[in-house]
Amino acid sequence: MVIAIDGPAGSGKSTIAKMLAKHLGFNYLDTGAMYRALTWKAMYSGVNLEDENALCSLMGETSIELQYKDNSVEVFVDGINVTKEIRLPSVTNNIHFISNKLRVRQRMVKLQQKYASVGNTVAEGRDMGTVVFSEADKKFFLDADVEERARRRFAELNLANKKVSYGDVVKDIETRDNRDITRSNSPLIKSEDATYINTTGLTIGEVFNKVLNEIEPILKNRVFKQ
Ligand code: DC
Repeated sequence: MVIAIDGPAGSGKSTIAKMLAKHLGFNYLDTGAMYRALTWKAMYSGVNLEDENALCSLMGETSIELQYKDNSVEVFVDGINVTKEIRLPSVTNNIHFISNKLRVRQRMVKLQQKYASVGNTVAEGRDMGTVVFSEADKKFFLDADVEERARRRFAELNLANKKVSYGDVVKDIETRDNRDITRSNSPLIKSEDATYINTTGLTIGEVFNKVLNEIEPILKNRVFKQ
C-alpha cells in the first residue's frame, strides 16, 4: 500500500507523513531528502550543476540510503551520513538545478519506486501523486498560506538558534514555491484525485485526524477484502 503526500515547503507534509508512517507501521520515504542528497554529492564532487549528462552519470554511481528510525530520517550518501549537510541553505539553494533535469528525475523515480516496493509506504514530495505513485492507494495535497509556512519555518530556525529575519524566510519560501511550481519537469501540482487539505490555522493533531479519517475506511476495506 502506498500513501502519497505532496505539497509545498512548510505545508506540514513531512511531519504528517512521519506521524502517519509511525502510526500505521509503514515505511517512510522522504523524496526531498533524495534530491538534497544528490545535490550535496554534486556540489561536494565539483560536478557542473548545469550538466545533465554529468549529473546522470553521478546519480548512476552514487548510493543514496535512507534510514527511518525514531521519527527521523538519517541520510547516507555512499555510506557517509549527510543528514545535517543536506539541510544547509547552500544545498537547498542549489536543488533546483538537479530537480529540473528530466533524466535525473527519471532515475530518481525508479529508485523511489524501488524503495516503496519493499513494503507499505508513506511517500512525501512534490510529484508523488502525479508521477511516482500515480496509482497510490490514497493521495493527499497539503497546503498553507505563505505567511503561515514562513512562520513555521521561522520558529524552527529560531529553535535551532539560526539567526534569520522573518522577511528573508518569506522570500526564501516564495523563491522555492516559484521554482517548484514553474519547473518544466514534474512541477508541484495537485493530482486530480488527491485530497486537498489547507493546514493554515490547524494544529498538527487536527491535520493528522483529517488525514486518518480519510485513510481508515481504505484500511478497513482492505482487511475486509482479505
Ligand atoms: O521536501 P524538501 O523541502 O526537502 O525538498 C527539497 C527540494 O527537492 C524541493 O524544493 C524540490 C525538490 N523535490 C522534488 O523536486 N521532487 C520531490 N519529489 C521532492 C523534492
